[in-house]
Amino acid sequence: MLDIKRIVAKNISEQVSQLDIEQIYENLEYPPNAEMGDVALPCFKLSRILRKSPNQIAQELASSITPSQFIEKVEAVSGYLNFFINRPLFIEKVVDRIMVEQDKYGSSDIGKSRNIVIDYSAPNIAKPFHVGHLRSTVIGNSLRKIFEFMGYNCIGINYLGDWGTQFGKLITAYNLWGSKQAVEEKGIKELMRLYVKFHQEAEKNPSLEDEARSWFARMERGDKQATELWQWFKDISIKEFEKVYDLMDVDFDYYTGESFYNDKIEPIIEELKQKGLLIESQGALIVDLEQYDMPPCLILKKDGSTLYATRDIAAAIHRKREYGFDKCIYVTGASQSLHFQQWFKVIELMGYEWANDLIHVPFGIVSLGGEKLATRTGKVVLLEDIMSEAIKKTLEIIESKNPGLENKEDVARHMGVGAVIFSDLYSNRIKDVSFSWDEILNFDGETGPYVQYTHARACSVIRKSEETTVDDNNFNSRLLQTKEEYQLCKTLYEFPEKTRMALSQLEPSIITRYLVDLAQDFNRFYHEHPILVDDKELRKARLSLVKAAKITLANGLRLIGLKPLEKV
Ligand code: ARG
Repeated sequence: MLDIKRIVAKNISEQVSQLDIEQIYENLEYPPNAEMGDVALPCFKLSRILRKSPNQIAQELASSITPSQFIEKVEAVSGYLNFFINRPLFIEKVVDRIMVEQDKYGSSDIGKSRNIVIDYSAPNIAKPFHVGHLRSTVIGNSLRKIFEFMGYNCIGINYLGDWGTQFGKLITAYNLWGSKQAVEEKGIKELMRLYVKFHQEAEKNPSLEDEARSWFARMERGDKQATELWQWFKDISIKEFEKVYDLMDVDFDYYTGESFYNDKIEPIIEELKQKGLLIESQGALIVDLEQYDMPPCLILKKDGSTLYATRDIAAAIHRKREYGFDKCIYVTGASQSLHFQQWFKVIELMGYEWANDLIHVPFGIVSLGGEKLATRTGKVVLLEDIMSEAIKKTLEIIESKNPGLENKEDVARHMGVGAVIFSDLYSNRIKDVSFSWDEILNFDGETGPYVQYTHARACSVIRKSEETTVDDNNFNSRLLQTKEEYQLCKTLYEFPEKTRMALSQLEPSIITRYLVDLAQDFNRFYHEHPILVDDKELRKARLSLVKAAKITLANGLRLIGLKPLEKV
């Protein structure tokens, strides 16, 4: 594998005995512009080790390093040692590698098939799937693709919120104000209406809360009437969630929600007791975490019912047994950070050293026009509505730009839904995001449609070329001497480094941003240099770059959960 930093580091290490190759490697940088070379060593940190000024170090190294096949020139400029590489050779190696690896380009086998459990999406039954869950779904789905690309085996779990006191509230509300017919006709929207009404009424009449609690207690005892209603609400909800997952091309290995762990809790309580971790506090059972500067972790309420944390503890222990995971990753809003810290601590106190393999991946809030979205107040925007809006708007754009396109509806679905996903994954995940249609769907902006459009453009050039050329993959890289061609190639070269970073930082936005850079570099090249020129050799060389760009764009799009489109 071509690694220009490594080649340069080796070259330097042969001159300086005080530094090993890894130390030098870590310090190398890609200079911001071409006059400063292709790789640079800032000599400031070395100054202390070598007891010379940075300038002096750079000067001395520059004169002692002899150019090689790969390194054409070395220059010392104000404390930096700048390396100029043999660009045609570089381009040839990068493009060759992409051609050989194809849809594996950027992947790796560092995962060694180890198991990673990813807990994502996890909407709550009987509440709508809203934009808040969108982030968990798209971040989790992308992390899953990234892990798989890096050689891990992923187990995707949809830990549905299908247990808890809210079902007591829902049953209470249904009995008071609901009807079978309305729920059957309106589905989740009706369940949500009931849920919201419960909260409004309970403000005036607190005894409703007691009734809700008692219904939940009946559920926990397995009471027939309570269980049947709950199952019914659950079936209706899952059916609607699946519509959204289908639209987004997201899937799961298991739908094991909170209720699945209900019968696995008792032994855990026993274990906590035996390990001396449970103490009584105002009738409830808790694990005290004061020593660790955290509020106590509530395990059992005074009426004996379990809590969110209790179920998470049972689920983690079960997953460890079942899948022997290397890591178990939880993708939820940052507002749940304390919850995860607390129960991760409890697992640790139970003596499980794999507590360190539990990872919370938090993300920021989604807003629409600056307003936070919540279920209790009923101020929610349904994900399904957002998606159909996105598809509708995309179809309008297609109708005006390219009315003759085949499979318009299908393209609009992928473009529209993909635009929403892309925008969600564009910012660092911890940042809050705000939806704006104009930004999301802009074909010239830093958007999904822009990258898709670029990919389709590359596909179209390749299609046209196939009508005229017979093609082997040999090309003369000496014909690619312009700065646009080199820049495009350099960005292509960075892809494997980006996938590694996205994995280690659990950060899909690294890929999303990279795709925009790559698309921009491709378009600059495309606008400056005609590709299907008469000169056969030149055409072949430029076409090779187009193919390499197409492959890399497609690989990146798949990693963020988008289907690369051939025609838009
Ligand atoms: N259902 C929860 C919510 O909507 C998210 C569950 C996340 N996963 C977990 N294992 N706690 O907030």
